[in-house]
Formats: sequence, structure tokens, C-alpha cells
Amino acid sequence: MMNLIIRKIPFIFGLMLVGLFIPMLSCAKETMSYKHYPWSFTGVFGTYDLSSVQRGYLVYRKACASCHSVQYMRYADLQQMGLTLDQIDKIAKEDQIVDGKDAQGKDFYRPATVVDYLPSPYPNTLIAKSVNEGKVPLDFSRYGMGMGQQADYIMAILMGYQNPPADFKPDQVGMVYNRYFPGHQIAMRSPLTQDSVKYTDGTAATIEQQAKDVTTFLSWTAHPHLIERHRIGIMMVIYMTFIAILILIVKRKVWSNVK
Ligand code: HEC
Repeated sequence: MMNLIIRKIPFIFGLMLVGLFIPMLSCAKETMSYKHYPWSFTGVFGTYDLSSVQRGYLVYRKACASCHSVQYMRYADLQQMGLTLDQIDKIAKEDQIVDGKDAQGKDFYRPATVVDYLPSPYPNTLIAKSVNEGKVPLDFSRYGMGMGQQADYIMAILMGYQNPPADFKPDQVGMVYNRYFPGHQIAMRSPLTQDSVKYTDGTAATIEQQAKDVTTFLSWTAHPHLIERHRIGIMMVIYMTFIAILILIVKRKVWSNVK
């Protein structure tokens, strides 16, 4: 019985390797329904272009943060996009956050510090709704989870503001035409304008570039550990292959005099 198990070890390892590869391959496969962009973070070897993530954060703060929160992210988490704590400290100090009530019972504002969570624009969904045509701007903490397909969708929405067709009739005042939003009308006006941010690395802030950067930032926000996970995954496959070969050699040696 034991012999049989030992003989089957290479086979078992082989199966385990195949088992590791199948989910990785299925991750790489994506269906396309919108214009497809070649995102660096999709596929088995996917990684984030951290300068794009940093530019995307700028766009988020400038053009999205007045409506969409990233409520589960602390300033300190921005280290993972390649910023030092000193740089983050400066960024945090530019934001005011509510820290309880003052003696008069009013919201007490103070500059944020690295340990704070990024501020949310509205105190609750009721207020969020009341100023956004009855729709709530969703929280971005996990919004970019869907990787490439989701990123293509976000791009489509951001680039999808076009002149409405002649027969376009919004259901209610404040809804605008968007070619890709389900139902073709959306309560969000086009949030991006040419050069609405100034990139310090010299990249031209066209609408498409800002859209790509903010989309990359949203994907990164949902998977801040992707680079690390992929590195470990690849090391694991190399390690397993090495062990499988080693076991095969040992098995051949042990059984070499058995005919
Ligand atoms: C003035 C407020 C406001 C700003 C600024 C804003 N949004 Fe929105 N956003 C909304 C609202 C409200 C909705 C919900 C729209 C609806 O359901 O009709 C929305 C919806 C969306 C959706 C569609 C979500 C879905 O349900 O599929 C995406 C994507 C999005 N926003 C991305 C962004 C990005 C990226 C930025 C910054 C570049 C941004 N938004 C800036 C208010 C805003």
C-alpha cells in the first residue's frame, strides 16, 4: 500500500500543479463588452503601474471625492502606491475631517493625519441622495474588484458622455445622457474636464488619460496587495515544480533496481 502511494507521488504533484494553473488561466480570460484597454494589472503576471495609480489618486481627490468615498482606506495605505510617510503626511494635512463635536455641539474639524480614514463627502446616504437626484454615489473601496472587465466599464462610463440622440427623454430633471450607463441616463454629470489636474510628472492631463489613471487607482484600491500576491503565486509555482522534479528523481533512484 505504502509503495503504491510513494509511486503515485509525482502524479499527485503533477495534479496539484495543474490545479494551481487552472484558476490562474481562468483569471486571465475576460469577456469584452466595452472598448478594451490593455490594463497592466490583468492576467497572471498583472502588476500596477504605480505612477498611474498616484496620478489616479490626484484625479480622484480633485474630481470624484466630493461625491464618492473610499471609506475603508487610511492615508497610511497610500504607502503601497509608492509614497513615503512624509509625502502622505502632507497629503493628509490638506484634508479636513470631522472629529466628534465641539463644545457647541457642532462638527469639530481638524486636519487629517496618516492614521485617519479618507473622509467621506456625506454624513449619510440620505443626504447623499438628496443632492444627487435621488441616487447614491457608491463607495469606491471595493468598486474596482472586477479587474479588466470592470475597468473597461468604468472607462466606458467616463468616456460615454456624448450628445444625446434627438429622441432622448430623461426620466427626471438632472439625468444626463451616457452611452454606456444601463438605461443611457445617469445622475452623474461628466466629472472630468481637460487639464482639471496638473500632473507633476509631465503627463498630459487629457480626459482619457485622467480616466485611465483614476480607473487604475480604483482597481488598485480594491486590490492593494495584487503585486505581492502575484509575486508569491509565481514563486509558489516555481517551488512546486522544483519539488515535483526532485521527487521524480528520488523516486527513479529508489525504484531503479526493482524490475
Ligand atoms: C457630483 C457628484 C459626483 C462626482 C463628482 C462623481 N460622481 Fe460618479 N456618480 C455620482 C452619482 C450620483 C452616481 C449614480 C448615478 C446613477 O445611478 O444614475 C455615480 C455613478 C458613478 C459610476 C457608475 C456606477 C454604476 O452604478 O455602475 C461610476 C463608474 C462613477 N460614478 C465614477 C466616478 C468617477 C471615476 C468620478 C471622478 C472622476 C466620479 N464618479 C465623480 C456622483 C458623482
